[in-house]
Parts: sequence; structure tokens; C-alpha cells
Amino acid sequence: MQPPVDGPHMLLQRSAVFYRQKHLLAIEGLQPPEIGQLLDLADSYVLLNRSGKTQRDLLRGRTLINLFFEDSTRTRTSFELAGKRLGADVINMGVSSSSVNKGETLIDTAATLNAMHCDLLVVRHDQSGAPNLLAQIVDAAVINAGDGTHEHPTQALLDALTIKRRKGRIAGLIVAICGDIAHSRVARSNIHLLTTMGCQVRVVGPPTLIPAEVADLGVTVFHDMAAGLAGADVVMMLRLQRERMTRGQIPSAREYFRFYGLDQEKLAYAKPDAIVMHPGPMNRGVEIDSAVADDPVRSVIKEQVEMGVAVRMAVLDMLSRGNRRNEP
Ligand code: NCD
Repeated sequence: MQPPVDGPHMLLQRSAVFYRQKHLLAIEGLQPPEIGQLLDLADSYVLLNRSGKTQRDLLRGRTLINLFFEDSTRTRTSFELAGKRLGADVINMGVSSSSVNKGETLIDTAATLNAMHCDLLVVRHDQSGAPNLLAQIVDAAVINAGDGTHEHPTQALLDALTIKRRKGRIAGLIVAICGDIAHSRVARSNIHLLTTMGCQVRVVGPPTLIPAEVADLGVTVFHDMAAGLAGADVVMMLRLQRERMTRGQIPSAREYFRFYGLDQEKLAYAKPDAIVMHPGPMNRGVEIDSAVADDPVRSVIKEQVEMGVAVRMAVLDMLSRGNRRNEP
């Protein structure tokens, strides 16, 4: 089937390509034109997906391996869907089905994958820096799907696309990122992206969950939801990542909800048209009240999931165009 004239296929052919890196390992260090172009390309994939059309010739004959050392539902499935919609052969490798459980090291696993001539390697790992290490070993283009507490670049891109489509812009907005900043790679990637694109970024949470260094990233720190949410255009809630916590970082889930859980009362501090975001999976009644999470007007949580597929299609497209440029 022919892609539509104004579809993703044409977008990069009409202008210079700004994103010229082989991998996508982090948002930190990306320039506004690179981010802007990825978002424009993703936006055109939203339209393509909604039209029901596909572009299966783009990655035909290419192999994408989803290598997940940590659990994931939406990130893994959306990379799978994105790869399939572009025609790639997609293979999912989870920890339980791989020989990592038998003691194989990350480097050995990488060498095995390399021998399979994989073109695109999507990696999630509980150690920060694991995708960077793999990128030095494998021939494939590596995409970081979340590494430890470091970065989760495609999540920040899908969040930015959701914001841009809802608010019509990114620059100049006040974005409050709330909750477990300390353990969140989503927060780190979003801070880099949103400050680079001209937002005023606030982080809001208890002192035990906000590392001191975060202030060096150009954000304002708040420990009180009323002050942190005042006048915000976007309220981004984060999951309490208890699996990464040492004991004693929060008193109890009930008390946490009382001070930092987003309910309608706390949301009222933000702008009347502020949107509510959450990367999922949500702890309902801990960091977010169901009435807010399911609010059809304010919550854009389902839209974030839809944007996730489009953003991953754009990233796969962009990186594979890069690879084609290197072909003889
Ligand atoms: C996030 C992650 O895995 O970092 N989830 C996601 O990708 N949808 C956030 C989280 O686990 O809380």
C-alpha cells in the first residue's frame, strides 16, 4: 500500500535530517532540532496509525530484538507493535527465556545477538549504563528502553508529543513532575527534554525522594504539592518505585497519598486546564487517585500510550534511515 503523500515517508525527504546518531541512548545531550524533528515525525505516525494505513515496506527484511531484563508491559508491546507496523521481523527476549538466567553475561548475550545480525536492539536493564555498554559491542542500532535510574528516552519523547498535541506547544509551559524523582529514569529523561525545549520544570516530592543533585539540572524543587502545583500547565505523576527503594524512604502508602497523592483537591492548585500524566503502571490510591487518573477531561494517560507507539515508530524509522545512509 502506498504511504499517503504527506505521511511519515515524505517528511524527512523534504528536509535535512537533524538526528544523525546511530543509537538512542539518552535525551541528555540532544539538541532542540533533533527532538523537534523526532516529534514531528512521530506526529505524522499518529495520523498514519489513526488512518488505519501502514508503512510495512520501511523496515522489511530488518530484525528488531526486544531484549528486556526487567518487566514491562507497555514499553515492550509498543516497540513490538511499532516494529511490526513498519514491517520488521520482531523477536522478544525476556530474562526468563534467555540464557541470562544460566549465568551468561551481558557481553556474551550481546555477542550472541550480534551473530544473529540484528539491526535494531531495544534494551531494558536494571543497571544504569547497560545500553551504552551494549552499543559499544553490537553492530545494531541500540535503543534504550529504560536503564536503572538513568534514562528512558522514548518515554520522554512520548510525553512531549502528548503535551505538544494537547497544549499546542512545549516552550513556556510550567511542568510539575511529582513523586519518586530519586528512582525515576522517566523523570530524568523528561527533565532533560523539557528544559531543553524551554519549559519551566518543577520537581515536587518528599526530601527523601528528591536527590540534591537534581537542582543542578535546571529545575526548581518543591516539597509541598500546593506550592509545586500552583499555576502548572502539566502535572506529571510518577510511580513509587518500591522495588528500587531502601527501607524508610516513605512512611506508609496512606500517609504518602495524604501529602503527595494527586486527588481533585490537590489538582485544583494547578491551572484549570492543566493536564494529568502518568507513565504507568499506576499505583492507584498511592500516588494518584482513580477519580483523577480516569478523569476524561484532565487525564491524558491513555493518550500517552497511543503516543508511545507513534514515537517508537518514529525512532525506529529515524535510526534505520541513518543505517541506510551508511550503506554502500
Ligand atoms: C516506567 C519505567 O519502566 O521506567 N514505565 C514505563 O516505561 N511505562 C515508569 C515506572 O516503571 O514507574
